[in-house]
Amino acid sequence: MIPNLAIFISGRGSNMQALVAHAFKLGPTDHPFTISLIISNNPEAYGLKWASEQNIPTINIDHKPFGKNRLAHEALINEALVNANIDFIALAGYMRVLSPEFCAQWAGRMINIHPSLLPRHKGLNTHKRAIEAGDKHHGCTVHWVSPGVDEGAIIANEIVPVLSDDTEETLSRRVLIAEHKLYPKALDIALKHRYGA
Ligand code: GRF
Repeated sequence: MIPNLAIFISGRGSNMQALVAHAFKLGPTDHPFTISLIISNNPEAYGLKWASEQNIPTINIDHKPFGKNRLAHEALINEALVNANIDFIALAGYMRVLSPEFCAQWAGRMINIHPSLLPRHKGLNTHKRAIEAGDKHHGCTVHWVSPGVDEGAIIANEIVPVLSDDTEETLSRRVLIAEHKLYPKALDIALKHRYGA
């Protein structure tokens, strides 16, 4: 089975670009997949513009008109996923917390990339927190999505050493490079786990 993948973004979309590049040059040992839809909650997301320039179907479903009604926003997302026959979701810089209902519905079929070595530094500002904590090692993690934010089972991680003169910016730049290497590998592992080798 060749699963149809949706990638959720909120901004720049560089991890999405890494997954698109991977889809274009799948090796013989990689699990095949099709990137069928890019979903954003932010109409200004650069990644949306980039994806539509590559002729990848995109849809913007802005969360703002829904206020606190997370489920109503997600109902529209689910409709788009059903219309595009989506099997599997990769969150790539999607800055909305998903409801427990949505997470349960997609359990085992949804992964996320987080810029820290989970379980250390869940949530935001991970690079700053790693430097402030004096961590010698930082990095990024791809994990299954469960209802607790950044809490699902870990699929793979990539370690990035923290240098003595690192700033939030220099560290985040190196972690982002590691993310672009990690996410395609981890997606492959997750797809093999779900659909077999
Ligand atoms: C990445 O660092 C990702 O780990 C985090 O948000 C950032 C998104 O960057 N969740 P991009 O949109 O993929 O460039």
